[in-house]
Amino acid sequence: MTTVPFEPPAYPYDRLDGAKAKAAALEGGVVDLSVGTPCDPPADAVLDALAHSGSERGYPPSIGTERLRGAAAAWIARRFGVIVAPGQIAACVGTKEFVAAAPQWLRLRRPERDTVLYPAVAYPTYAMGAVLAGCRAVAVPVDEAFRPRLDAIAAADERRALCLWVNSPGNPAGNLDDLGAAAAWGRDHGVPVLSDECYAEFTWEGPPRTILEHGTEGVLALHSLSKRSNLAGLRVGFYAGDPDLVRYLSEVRKHVGMMVPGPAQAAGAAALDDDVHVAVQRERYHSRLVRARDILSAWSGIEAPLPAGGFYLWFEVGEPWAFTERLAAEGGALVSPGEFYGDAATRFVRVAVVQPDERLDLVARRLGVPA
Ligand SMILES: Cc1ncc(COP(=O)(O)O)c(C=O)c1O
Repeated sequence: MTTVPFEPPAYPYDRLDGAKAKAAALEGGVVDLSVGTPCDPPADAVLDALAHSGSERGYPPSIGTERLRGAAAAWIARRFGVIVAPGQIAACVGTKEFVAAAPQWLRLRRPERDTVLYPAVAYPTYAMGAVLAGCRAVAVPVDEAFRPRLDAIAAADERRALCLWVNSPGNPAGNLDDLGAAAAWGRDHGVPVLSDECYAEFTWEGPPRTILEHGTEGVLALHSLSKRSNLAGLRVGFYAGDPDLVRYLSEVRKHVGMMVPGPAQAAGAAALDDDVHVAVQRERYHSRLVRARDILSAWSGIEAPLPAGGFYLWFEVGEPWAFTERLAAEGGALVSPGEFYGDAATRFVRVAVVQPDERLDLVARRLGVPA
């Protein structure tokens, strides 16, 4: 048992305040490409459902309305060709809270285990969830394409593992993982595999993938409407897969009072029913990835590879803080140094293409890059 009082670390993006001030001083202000928060409008039908569901008065079901879970099941069938019963699906209040809290609930069930495995270059909340549960956060080494190397997990960590996180398409590197291998590894070792697939709609190489294509036993796929449907402010996500895991987690979460507000559930269902707005969004992100890559390479001489998935450019610059400060001062654009995503990524930067085209054009003009 630790006796050191817990103090939350500085939130990574707060460490960009200095660079942000430099960017904000330029006429036209900061062009924030640091946090992956969507800027484009949600679909009209979604806002309509939000306004007119009539579900404000009563408590919403923690597990999710039948309507929301049905829409999620229908989307999984359409998008991935996998049939999952609505009973194998439950809602979460956006996915960050699920990522941060799942280790606590899993540990209550298996108190003899104390380890959360996650990719060494990854969204920081996987490690934070372990810390918040008083668990060990153990980073799984990644290969040259930033995919987790399951063969590098130590036997001692396997035996102590509560779960393995995978994230494909990955944030920050845009990697596409072998999800079948991850599912098989989990089954072989009796470790639940939690597959964060919130960027699945923005898969650029081949079709979108889910771990559920490899069966539901021992796995959960985690999905969010934040990125897919520009609804990060609404807080709607869901997890789907192993019936026993879904039952256990949804029961615990009911006791905790984790509930997506009723109007948000109605809006989420409307968003899942529609694929047209997602096709539009895919085009936007793809063209912004290309435009941002071209601007930054014309300015810095470093050509970022386009990702296999997701809406981040991820590339090596050598001195990420110097690059970040200079880009903020000269172009007014704010990006994130790789160290936010793990000690194995300290030479990289991440650029989220979450600003409208005219804001990217403004950065180009400031940097002297022709249109
Ligand atoms: C990999 C990954 N997972 C989960 C989330 C959380 O998204 P939300 O809580 O909005 O569903 C994010 C957000 O940036 C993310 O990048």
